[in-house]
Amino acid sequence: MNLMQAIKKAAYFLEQNTGQSKEECKIEVDYIFMHVLNTNKSKLYAELDNEISELIIKKINELLELRLKKPLSQILNKHIFYKDEFYINDKVLIPRSETESIVDEIIKQGDLIYKEKRRCVLLDAGTGSGCVGITIANERPNWQVIMSDISLDAINVAKTNTSLCKYNNISIICADWLKPFAHNSLDMIFSNPPYISADDTLINESVLINEPSIALFSGEDGLEDIKNIIHFSKKTLTKSGILFLENGASQAFSVKSILESEDFTDIRIHLDYNSHGRFTSSRNNNG
Ligand SMILES: C[S@@+](CC[C@H](N)C(=O)[O-])C[C@H]1O[C@@H](n2cnc3c(N)ncnc32)[C@H](O)[C@@H]1O
Repeated sequence: MNLMQAIKKAAYFLEQNTGQSKEECKIEVDYIFMHVLNTNKSKLYAELDNEISELIIKKINELLELRLKKPLSQILNKHIFYKDEFYINDKVLIPRSETESIVDEIIKQGDLIYKEKRRCVLLDAGTGSGCVGITIANERPNWQVIMSDISLDAINVAKTNTSLCKYNNISIICADWLKPFAHNSLDMIFSNPPYISADDTLINESVLINEPSIALFSGEDGLEDIKNIIHFSKKTLTKSGILFLENGASQAFSVKSILESEDFTDIRIHLDYNSHGRFTSSRNNNG
């Protein structure tokens, strides 16, 4: 069998056995082949006519079988977010493309703070793999980025990923949301907290089985952690500091109401790639 035939066969296998689209299966198959052959995409596609050995076919088939049980990022222990490849294991949420879509807006609003104050201290609360904090630290060498998480396992993954950091502008702390942070100490807070309600029936089975529940669930209404972060942000953010929150696809207006009731201003809802109101940004009127 040559490489092209093997790729087609593998893609067909995933199409038949996962609920994914043809395109998604093709992308995953490319990653599987690049991993097994230890090559990159351009080399892979330059060698499509090459015969492949029985041993390689066996390795590919093992990964395809495993893929029916686990997300590919957990099998390969890596996931690309923004510009970098992050180390991933089953102790952290697999970074989502929705989250990636807010990074540029965070940077845009942080640049205004930096222009005015000549400093920007950003907390990535509930950092998981560290994908957001590390990405922003690399994009903005002059900012100071703090990454926090309550899970020691997540902290260890984030620490591993600090090898991606290009500058010395990041620190990591194990913390329960905003508890250890001093009043008026943060210019910006970003958090993608758990936001699924305890009785959610729509949650994807693979997510439920494979990703840590501490990263997913937040009380009966899914808003417990968001309420906590909003409440304590009032003290830890500087006056006029910015709070960015990610939320579930149908939660944006509930989050907006909580922000209003806590006296935040300039509340904006930001859409993700699927046009869901996935984020809010708001300004601290307290402090
Ligand atoms: C949805 S995941 C987000 C991970 C990462 N920021 C991302 O966007 O991929 C939520 C993270 O919040 C952390 N977390 C849950 N409860 C927390 C708490 N009380 N204090 C701090 N972090 C918490 C979880 O361990 C998890 O890493």
